[in-house]
Amino acid sequence: MKQKILSNFIVFEGIDGSGTTTQINLLKELLTQKKISHWATYEPTHGPVGRLIHSILEGHLNAAPETLALLFAADRNEHIYHGQESINYKISENKLVICDRYLFSSLAYQSIECDFKYIADLNGRFPLPYYVFFLDTPLEICAKRRDARSQSHIFETHTYQEKVIGQYEKAFAYFKHTDLHIIRLDGTKSKQLILEDVWKIISGLPIVKK
Ligand code: TMP
Repeated sequence: MKQKILSNFIVFEGIDGSGTTTQINLLKELLTQKKISHWATYEPTHGPVGRLIHSILEGHLNAAPETLALLFAADRNEHIYHGQESINYKISENKLVICDRYLFSSLAYQSIECDFKYIADLNGRFPLPYYVFFLDTPLEICAKRRDARSQSHIFETHTYQEKVIGQYEKAFAYFKHTDLHIIRLDGTKSKQLILEDVWKIISGLPIVKK
């Protein structure tokens, strides 16, 4: 099935420590400064399913890999469709929605322990963003940043993260013949220069230009 593309929706992806959250925060500031109506959000969410996912990631609860994949999909379903704090609703209000991680994370992370097609099918009915910005940051830099953080979770091992990089490539290849725009950002650049690269691209979106 062809996945619908939402024109006012953009997503940031990358391995843990690649800088997606920093970029979302900088972009949020810039959009506010430029008075562009937007909504910044993230996955896993802090809704009921998202909280359950966080407990599993932090190691307080245990679940089979397929169960975790189903939970991420359920959390995403809530995030896209449920109520006024949802992606669809904010887009209907003509806001630019910027999201820290989306279904590409499921394709990259869950496909390490589950079958890729199983994950693709689970996420096959969700809409796609117009742009996916992939922060291409070397493993060593990401590892240093993760080491400096107080909290860690079950996916934050060198071996796992190395596999995630490979699975991101597989995920992006999966969308090769679609209209999805995948933009690779050089994660070794300073955060301000990365933001400039992002801005050059999204400033062309109709919602930003008007
Ligand atoms: P974060 O909130 O620090 O980005 O951590 C979330 C972790 O969850 C991160 O390692 C990526 C992972 N994740 C998945 O495995 N699948 C998903 O679908 C999403 C959204 C995140």
